[in-house]
Amino acid sequence: MAERKALQRNEELIQKQYVYIDKVREITGEKANTEGRRPTYDVRVFGCQMNELESEQLAGMLDEMGFAKAAPGEQADVIVFDTCCVRENAEEKIYGHLGLLKPSPGEKKSIIAITGCMMQQPHVVEKIRKSYHHVGIVFGTHNLYTFPELLYRHLTQGKRVFDVWDSEGQIVEGTPITRAEKVKAWVSIMQGCNNFCSYCIVPYVRGRERSRKKEDIVDEVKRLAEAGYKEITLLGQNVNSYGNDLGKTDAFADLLYALNDIGGIERIRFTTSHPKDLSDSLITAIKELPKLCEHLHLPFQSGSTRILKEMNRKYTKEQYLALVDRVRGSIPDISFTTDIIVGFPGETEEDFEDTLDVVRKVRFDQAFTFLYSKRTGTRAAELENQVPEDVKKERFLRLVELQNSITAEINRTYEGKTVEVLVEGISRYNETMYTGRTRNYKLINFTSPEDLTGKLVQVKIIRAWPFWLEGTVIPEGETS
Ligand code: SAH
Ligand code: SF4
Ligand code: F3S
Repeated sequence: MAERKALQRNEELIQKQYVYIDKVREITGEKANTEGRRPTYDVRVFGCQMNELESEQLAGMLDEMGFAKAAPGEQADVIVFDTCCVRENAEEKIYGHLGLLKPSPGEKKSIIAITGCMMQQPHVVEKIRKSYHHVGIVFGTHNLYTFPELLYRHLTQGKRVFDVWDSEGQIVEGTPITRAEKVKAWVSIMQGCNNFCSYCIVPYVRGRERSRKKEDIVDEVKRLAEAGYKEITLLGQNVNSYGNDLGKTDAFADLLYALNDIGGIERIRFTTSHPKDLSDSLITAIKELPKLCEHLHLPFQSGSTRILKEMNRKYTKEQYLALVDRVRGSIPDISFTTDIIVGFPGETEEDFEDTLDVVRKVRFDQAFTFLYSKRTGTRAAELENQVPEDVKKERFLRLVELQNSITAEINRTYEGKTVEVLVEGISRYNETMYTGRTRNYKLINFTSPEDLTGKLVQVKIIRAWPFWLEGTVIPEGETS
């Protein structure tokens, strides 16, 4: 069930949605009585952690409206797509999925709803209106919480419903949520982005930065602790500017100190940090606060100062490297992960060599590498000197090879060591193993005679694999 008792019903906007939730619940209740089963739902999520969190809100709303989660393989009565448009292939994937759901005569017709970043682009909505008639409900990121009202309209009027807001409103608290996990939870601290990196569509589809109030975040984390959650990951496109819109300075570090005091929570993570405004107060917070994990996801995008300027990233190669050194000087055992774009317009072989140089110097634990993708509406899409696909791909492969060898080398240094793992449950790689992460974000799969989900345990690493480490739990009281 969704976290119902946790809901704040005092806000007018959300209260209105609760009226629709109850109305839809009547409809699903009748259906359940006549058909002997509750109608089912399936939320399919694409994109980043922010979308994962919002898909948990979509599931929460559907649960509250009386739907049941569909069994794996079953075609649900309501299918909701939560979409991403950060790169072209993300969009193509969605069109592919939608195409597969076009019903043939006599086949089951599901209600198909689409939301997420892709829907904030008018040309996409037009294409869906014209070419995907089986899509019944279209809504955007700014009005995700109005889903109950839109579903009610669709169910009662039988017409297609299109409702995408073109500007962000205030942050709405109190949307129901059914979380996918039991040990770790996502917590949004802010929405939107003000940075306008020249390649990126996110500011156009997510609006300007809006921070949640500190009290609301603290309340949510307290409730998560009461519900047994052990780890939280704070989410924002650029968490380092949390609170700027509330007229506060150093608000992010201040928030972290408040969250560190909440009993029951063992670990705190956050993503994403923009290198241009990673403050000394944040470095101090990571060093001082016992629950803040020693891991920074710090996208550098390109190692070339010239390209970084074109990207509007507001730091140079040297400044990025100096920042990494500064953080390591203060927190020696911290691990870094990053995002890198290959083939930004005008990228020369020399520029790309600078990217490889940063990868070699920093030695990231992991890098998410992307081929530059032209996004309509962004500044970089106007640039003439786009890099040919074959050149992009060739550079991409060289970069991946280099990073993989570094990841493998780092992983091998863990063999024989004992690490602290927060146990998340059964491993996805191997059902006979449990899974979890170290404080510095290493993925560990390990054997254990008992289910220790939700506990912090000591694991002895016996073997390094390219993307994870294999180990065996050390029973409590024993030492390695
Ligand atoms: N706010 C975060 C992440 C946003 S999107 C940040 O600033 O780091 C996640 C990643 O997608 C980005 O870090 C970038 O590496 C990549 N990305 C964004 N736009 C892209 C584009 N047009 N082509 C290729 N990769 C892109
Ligand atoms: Fe996109 Fe840059 Fe904002 Fe990240 S900081 S979401 S890359 S514009
Ligand atoms: Fe994609 Fe939107 Fe996230 S474009 S990366 S789902 S903010």
